[in-house]
Amino acid sequence: MTNLNGIKVKNRLFVSSGALAYGSKQKLFIDPTIFGAITTRTLTLEQRQGNFGVSPVKPDGISEQILWGIQIIKKRPTVLRKIPGGWINAFGWWNIGVENYINDVYPKTEEVSKIVSIGGFSIEEYLEMIRRLNDLAIIAIEIDVSCPSVKIDWEKDVLLFGKLMKQCRETSRHPLIVKLSIKGDYLTRAHIAEDIGINAVHAINTIRGLLLNPKTGRPLLKAKYGGVSGERIKVIALRVVSEMRQEIDIPIFGGGGIYNWKDCQQFFWAGADAVSFGSVHFFQPWKPTWIVRLHQKEAEKLVQKIKKIRK
Ligand SMILES: Cc1cc2nc3c(=O)[nH]c(=O)nc-3n(C[C@H](O)[C@H](O)[C@H](O)COP(=O)(O)O)c2cc1C
Repeated sequence: MTNLNGIKVKNRLFVSSGALAYGSKQKLFIDPTIFGAITTRTLTLEQRQGNFGVSPVKPDGISEQILWGIQIIKKRPTVLRKIPGGWINAFGWWNIGVENYINDVYPKTEEVSKIVSIGGFSIEEYLEMIRRLNDLAIIAIEIDVSCPSVKIDWEKDVLLFGKLMKQCRETSRHPLIVKLSIKGDYLTRAHIAEDIGINAVHAINTIRGLLLNPKTGRPLLKAKYGGVSGERIKVIALRVVSEMRQEIDIPIFGGGGIYNWKDCQQFFWAGADAVSFGSVHFFQPWKPTWIVRLHQKEAEKLVQKIKKIRK
């Protein structure tokens, strides 16, 4: 077991929010039980149709993947698009809601080390979700304040951000992670989170982008702007992790464009304590599971080596 400032994990290789739905057991190529942690899709207090315009199905293993796949393909032009070197998505917190998660999914994911991601439209919504999650056997809660396709900006106002972090800290019995975007002064937000006692920072979320129909000039995504992920954001994510490492001492969970073991190594050198696989699951779903099988011990050794060099 590795203890990352109170977050106890079996290895340093995680799955990012949105990549594997809620972490239910999947049989073919993906083994959710092997990862140090799987982060759930961001949950809200009530279930949300997001930008899909359809209710999320109640997830159940493989059938969930097929159903979700059909929904994604059906609506793909407006919520998820492949772009060179990555993806742009505007799911808009499409999710089953915290209560459905607790009743229908959580009991089926006993063997999975889970980080539950939450998103809210008021401080009270975040706190209510934290209260409901307090008694579950999860390894941490990730506070998502950085979804680019939801029209609420928790990060814009530093005082509001601090207030949210403080109240979440006071309410949660679980370790807390905050997932930050690269908008504005993200280093100040990282400092605030550290000072308030947030256990770790996850950097980065997707980067806001715009895709236009070249003939009409109309946005191709329903929500106009979307979040860009994948290989093309990796160098930016590495820069941000490196900057944060110089500023804060709490663990940094690095992600953004990690496709292979070499990418993981780069994030560890930049200063990440753990790395997180996201959109790689959309085109090589087996890859992260393989990487964990082959490299989890190496990851631990590499981090220890880097820490010695830095002392
Ligand atoms: C389709 C899709 C859905 C996502 N859903 C969420 C989400 O619900 N909550 C969240 O915090 N991040 C979400 N993300 C962002 C990822 O967790 C990750 O931070 C981002 O994609 C960058 O990593 P990557 O380049 O490895 O994908 C989503 C990303 C994609 C592509």
